[in-house]
Order: sequence, then C-alpha cells, then structure tokens
Amino acid sequence: MIGTPLKNNATRIMLLGSGELGKEVVIEAQRLGVEVIAVDRYPNAPAMQVAHRSHVVNMLDREELSRVIRLERPDYIVPEIEAINTPYLLELEKEGFAVIPTARATNLTMNREGIRRLAAEELGLPTAQYLFATSMEEFSAGVERIGLPCVVKPIMSSSGKGQSVVRDAADLERAWTYAMEGARGASDKVIIEEFIPFDYEITLLTVRYSDGTRFCPPIGHVQIKGDYHESWQPMAMTPQVLAEAERQAKAVTDALGGFGIFGVELFIKGDRVWFSEVSPRPHDTGMVTMVSQNMSEFELHVRAILGLPVPEVVNLAPAASHVILADATVAEVAFDGLAEALSVPDTKLRLFGKPDARPGRRMGVALSLGTDTDEARKRAEQAAHAVKIVTV
Ligand SMILES: Nc1ncnc2c1ncn2[C@@H]1O[C@H](COP(=O)(O)OP(=O)(O)OP(=O)(O)O)[C@@H](O)[C@H]1O
Ligand SMILES: [Mg+2]
Repeated sequence: MIGTPLKNNATRIMLLGSGELGKEVVIEAQRLGVEVIAVDRYPNAPAMQVAHRSHVVNMLDREELSRVIRLERPDYIVPEIEAINTPYLLELEKEGFAVIPTARATNLTMNREGIRRLAAEELGLPTAQYLFATSMEEFSAGVERIGLPCVVKPIMSSSGKGQSVVRDAADLERAWTYAMEGARGASDKVIIEEFIPFDYEITLLTVRYSDGTRFCPPIGHVQIKGDYHESWQPMAMTPQVLAEAERQAKAVTDALGGFGIFGVELFIKGDRVWFSEVSPRPHDTGMVTMVSQNMSEFELHVRAILGLPVPEVVNLAPAASHVILADATVAEVAFDGLAEALSVPDTKLRLFGKPDARPGRRMGVALSLGTDTDEARKRAEQAAHAVKIVTV
C-alpha cells in the first residue's frame, strides 16, 4: 500500500545523500506517489531539486541526523552515499526505523575492511590478496608481503580518492601520503591489495526484493584513476563465468540482507572471477540502465524498497553511458554544445544540475544505444565530449 504524498497517510522515503543517483531514485519514487525528502550537506543538490522537501545537514553528525529523522519520521531511510554516520543508523534500526537495505549493510560497506573481511574470510569468496596497515612501517612491510605492483586505498574513501598503484619501492612514500590525504574521516588505515591484471571488470547489479533475488545483465566498465568513466551493457561473458559472478554476488548480497539494489564489482581474467567490492545502493556504472533495461536500477531499487514485485530484468538493446566531467572550477555552470551532442543518433543526456563545478566533478552523462556495445560506446563518448562546460 502506498499513501498520498503530503497527506497524513503518505509513504515517506528519506534519502541520505542527494547526488545524481539519488535524483533518479527520487524521480522513480515520485512516479509511484511516494513522498520524498532529500538530505545532503549542501543546498540545491541534484536530488533535492526533484524532491518534495530537503534538509541541509552534516550527515556524519549524529545530532543533526537525529534531528531531521525525528522531524520527518520517514518510513524508509535510504542511504545514497557512504559518508554517513552509519553506527547511528544501527541504533535507528533498533528503534524501529527501516534502513535500506539494512543498517549493518551500510555500516559494513562504508569501510573496505568490513566488507573485505566478510567476503574473503567469512564467505570464502576469491579476492585480491590483501593486508591492512596503520603506519608507514607496517605499510612498507605489507607492500613487501603482497608484492609489486599493488594497489593502495584508504579503508574509507570512494571514487578512487587516495587510491594509487605502487609499481616500485620508490612510490611507497608518495602512495602513503596520497592515501592519508584522500581518506574520509580520521582513520589512518589503508588496504594494500594485490594488483589483479584483469581482462575486464563488471558491475553485477543484484536486486534483493520481497520474493527473491534477480540479476541485471552484466555491465562492463572502464575506470580512470579509480573513478567511473564509461560503462556498457550487456558485457559479453561466457555462461560459466557469468554463473560464477552471480554465485559470488548472491553470496555477498545474501550476507548483507535487506531489500534494494546492490552494485557488485567483480574482476575477470579468463575463467577466473574475483570479488572486489559491493555498494548496497544504485551504482554509478549502472546509469546505463536508464536506457538499456526494461526497468532501470533506480526503478528496481524503489520497487524493492517498497516490497513490490520485480519480474525478470532484461537488456532491451546494446547501450552505453559516458561521463561528462568538469575540467575547471566554475561557480555558475552553463552547458554548451548540446545541439552537437544530441545530434548523435539514439542518444540522450542527463545533466545533473549540480550547483557548481570543480576539476574532475561529474556533471552529467551521455546515454546511447547502438547495434552493438562498441557502437553505443562510440556514440556516448562522442556526445559526452561534445558537451562543453562554460561560464556565462
Ligand atoms: N586490486 C586491484 N587490482 C587491479 N585494479 C584494481 C584493484 N583494486 C581496484 N582496482 C581498480 O580501481 C577501481 C576502483 O577501485 P575500488 O572500486 O576499490 O575503489 P572505489 O574508490 O570504491 O571506487 P568507486 O567508489 O568508484 O567504486 C576498480 O574499479 C579497478 O578498476
Ligand atoms: Mg568501486
């Protein structure tokens, strides 16, 4: 049952984090007449612009989070980012608030150590070899044990922040400092991972809903400096490798539990599949599903949250998504080149409406269909590169 927005019987979702992924979640929730409250640390964030109401709070601050949650009393608390006071979500869940997918899932996955130990040590999933270090001494000893090249990441960070590849001993100092600078919060712990020379990497979007689990067709993607650059669907995989990817995704999402969509990131080389990480929320590489599937990852998330059915998810056409990045700091952004971008066949743009730009900030995506994923990727790239971010 869903009530009427803005009435006493409204079904209310509160989004913690109001970026571009949240914006699409809001739109899907609005389509079902759900009342949506968007929260983030800065005003006019993308999801706030399409929500019924919004609040600007520091979501790492327990008191501030408590104040808006008690004011709004949402039926569902839906985290959109990792930088939230997740220990407090555990308390809220005990009080009876519904946290999507579960407070434990959001708490474990916001920290690389939590999710990696669960996947590798409890579930026995294959992962890159890893060690943790909390000082420069431990770090150099750890790198020696893992071997070169290796990948270094702060245990709390996202979008590739603080992440680097150590290729020889001369990189050690720089990698440590970079990780310390890129870390979210006060932790000085890093994970040192064996470098996996994968053939390709995928996101396996996995939906846990009231009647079971469904997988979206696999999404291939390319990351640049640890951050999302382009993705496409379907990624061609053999049935055996796909089955192994689904087995791993099922194991980790079952262990996390709850209802909602999960982005399971996997590395593939030949017949081997390594679990990398999982986000218990829509995934940036999954933006391609806005054009590629019968239900986008955002629609799937909302259906699962509300306890609604999720029939089979299918890819409707080869499709791709390519990011539109800012390359400078701009206080009042304007987009030029739109006519050129939208002249590309079977192509759409999503401009997120972020209030300002800084170098590397994701401002939009181009979404294209093609006769195959190569054509779709070329089209999306052409359209994304045609869009120019300017100051007017
Ligand atoms: N052990 C590894 N071996 C090879 N490549 C790796 C390894 N770990 C990470 N990468 C590369 O770096 C990318 C980002 O790593 P990861 O997903 O762990 O970081 P993240 O900051 O959580 O990224 P995001 O938030 O964008 O998902 C991966 O998608 C992959 O391309
Ligand atoms: Mg990742």
